[in-house]
Amino acid sequence: MDLFEYQAKTLFKEHGVPTGLGEVATTPDEAKSIAEKIGGVTVVKAQVKVGGRGKAGGVKVAKTPGDAADAAGEILGMDIKGHTVHRVLVDPGADIKQEYYVSFLLDRTNRTFLAMASYEGGMEIEQLAVERPEALAKIPVNAIDGVDDAKAREIAVAAKFPEELVAPVADILVKLWETFVATDATLVEVNPLAKVGDGSILALDGKVTLDENADFRQPGNAALEDKDAADPLEAKAKEKHLNYVKLEGEVGIIGNGAGLVMSTLDVVAYAGEKHGGVKPANFLDIGGGASAEVMSNGLDIILNDPSVRSVFVNVFGGITSCDAVANGIVTALGMLGDSATKPLVVRLDGNNVEEGRRILAEAAHPLVTVVDTMDDAADKAAQLANGGK
Ligand SMILES: Nc1ncnc2c1ncn2[C@@H]1O[C@H](COP(=O)(O)OP(=O)(O)OP(=O)(O)O)[C@@H](O)[C@H]1O
Ligand SMILES: [Mg+2]
Repeated sequence: MDLFEYQAKTLFKEHGVPTGLGEVATTPDEAKSIAEKIGGVTVVKAQVKVGGRGKAGGVKVAKTPGDAADAAGEILGMDIKGHTVHRVLVDPGADIKQEYYVSFLLDRTNRTFLAMASYEGGMEIEQLAVERPEALAKIPVNAIDGVDDAKAREIAVAAKFPEELVAPVADILVKLWETFVATDATLVEVNPLAKVGDGSILALDGKVTLDENADFRQPGNAALEDKDAADPLEAKAKEKHLNYVKLEGEVGIIGNGAGLVMSTLDVVAYAGEKHGGVKPANFLDIGGGASAEVMSNGLDIILNDPSVRSVFVNVFGGITSCDAVANGIVTALGMLGDSATKPLVVRLDGNNVEEGRRILAEAAHPLVTVVDTMDDAADKAAQLANGGK
């Protein structure tokens, strides 16, 4: 889960990372009164979960509370790369002398954590990484050892911070690592980390991604969720503990096992090219033990997606055998009753497939077509989604 800047900086503050943090406003009037409270120059910043806000005009300096209200008026409602701005953060203005870059992230490829840091900030980090890779230090961080003062100094030195900045930057890196560990983050990034007029160093921006697999031990995470942005079907699926991702197409997909579901998306997209360009409408992995209840929850979500015109159930019987899955489908359709209205193409294979197919044939549900191979089933589902053509 990605956080908004104001949420990220709130976590920074809780863990002692110095940051200039004001308050969030949803109207120009609120922005004005926050600016009055802060006093002096403020900065009004669009809160959207996408990079490049400054360049898009979503970060504005305001000299007076009236200016802050005007800036908020301009920024609220703005579209930044497809994200509508619903809130702005009004921060104390900083007298920036220099800008730096620091981050910690989970490096999946190398199965470790990684610190990235550069004395040269102010420019997009992706651009720096390409044009002057030597200016961006990349230091692996061992999960057990973490980042103590010595490790933090190693990172600061590798990032080419001058002597006098190594100690204060290292101090911030240690606290940032503490934030990373304590919140079960997969990314904490500060761009820019800035040296300001009085010589102190502050996180002026913050980007944090939290690992949703750790939600069970992070009771605070639920409150950080952006309920406005969540897709209602995804929210409902999450409540039912289903592995569901909404996509743009018309063919609903249910499968067991992430690998099988991914390849199902591929064959449906491929088959769709022959049938009016229809595409998969979702990813849904019902996992190994596909009980009737799980099947019914899954079908319920997919059938309630208004863009779905047909459903492809693609199951490989393993520990849960095909007869159990077939019974699951029949029971699920019974549970859904009249609310099930879209055609289902079912492909079963694997453990006890004959019995599974027999159960479906016997039930002879008018919405269900059984097709034996994955390619043929994908073709049939795509054809049905295209109105039978
Ligand atoms: N409190 C502040 N006072 C003065 N200037 C600021 C302040 N916050 C940000 N800035 C300036 O605005 C620039 C852009 O701000 P910020 O980094 O928060 O957004 P961004 O980089 O455009 O967004 P993103 O990091 O999401 O791409 C900063 O590099 C900095 O120069
Ligand atoms: Mg930034």
